[in-house]
Amino acid sequence: MLSGERFYCDESNVPRYELPVLLQDVHGEPVRDAADWWHCRRPELVSLLEQYVYGATPTASVDVSGSLLQEDRVLDGAARQRLILLTITHGERRHEVPCLLYLPTQIQKPVPVFVGLNFSGLHTVTEHPDMPLPMGWVRSEPDLGAGANRASDSGRGGRRRRWPIDTLVREGFGVATAYCGDFAPDDILHYQKGVWSLFDGPRNPRHQEQWGAVGMWAWGLSRILDYLEQEPAVDWRQTIVFGHSRLGKAALWAGAQDERFAMVISNNSGCGGAAISRRRFGETIAKINRQFPHWFCERFRNFNESEERLPVDQHMLLALAAPRPLYVASASEDLWADPKGEYLAACAAASAYALLGQRVLLQEEMPLIGHPVCEGSIGYHIRSGGHGITDYDWSQYVAFAKHHLTLN
Ligand code: GCU
Repeated sequence: MLSGERFYCDESNVPRYELPVLLQDVHGEPVRDAADWWHCRRPELVSLLEQYVYGATPTASVDVSGSLLQEDRVLDGAARQRLILLTITHGERRHEVPCLLYLPTQIQKPVPVFVGLNFSGLHTVTEHPDMPLPMGWVRSEPDLGAGANRASDSGRGGRRRRWPIDTLVREGFGVATAYCGDFAPDDILHYQKGVWSLFDGPRNPRHQEQWGAVGMWAWGLSRILDYLEQEPAVDWRQTIVFGHSRLGKAALWAGAQDERFAMVISNNSGCGGAAISRRRFGETIAKINRQFPHWFCERFRNFNESEERLPVDQHMLLALAAPRPLYVASASEDLWADPKGEYLAACAAASAYALLGQRVLLQEEMPLIGHPVCEGSIGYHIRSGGHGITDYDWSQYVAFAKHHLTLN
């Protein structure tokens, strides 16, 4: 939370609001059954979220191929670590993104894989000395030695605690990750230097519906999946898209658009992710648009301080994961991300799951801290502590995945 923001983290300041109705189309007609959902409401919601929040995802098809750059046995032989260069081609244009894939050595069959972006580069996920540093812009993070927006060797392994690869491979999962900045650098001056250039030239101000960084990150997650489809050691029908915080927003948007993802996980994704915007609790639309003007489409700014006019809210984003298992996680001290708003959005998405024949077991009363709800198609927990992704969070995701996916 930023200083001076306490006012916005007070439940008594939450305005009265009504959520836009999930199971009613733009003409006011009720969405009665699965056919109405698939043929009418679902595409309508994707399109509304594009027009008002994330911007339009290019529909042009691209070609994705992966070439192996390095392969090593790591974690005392428990995992194969592969560095793969993804080449994304659109007509004459080409963009390359290095991607890290871990596979358990013990399992001979294709494995389910967690797919998520990282904030600061592949070299921060592992201490492996040969992992290349990002060439382009990175956030300045003093503890990673990333001054002047350049990655440095001292960042090696600096975020490995967020990536418990050892546990995940021993539980039978693969893990795939790429640096978010290789799809769109997270900066207003640089975000058009990634995949943007595959489709558009720079344009300022942007067209009202042009995509922002969250849209490009989400698109990037789908391109990693394009590659995983080609990888025989991976059971791509069981890929789990996940993300923390801003990258949780991207994971939800990727899961909403790309039905190939078998499961969707949002860790502390907050405003523009799982949290209801109309609550104006913690981070608001105005605040996020001011601080991160490159994340969403230009039209989203029209709803700064007037959330009630927005034709969508974030429960609709969550509902687009239906009928696939969805997990939303909050942290008790992460008020900036509005834990209660994240929970209420998950509850409000449940009617879409019910329509598609899935059971959701979330009660009106929010679960207590440290009491995850793992059964039912929408999982939720609130853990103690602040914004972050911890071993506790991961153990719930593993349990949820084991419960809902068919593991070999
Ligand atoms: C900021 C931002 C959030 C975001 C978070 C993060 O706090 O306001 O919207 O989720 O950064 O990505 O860590």
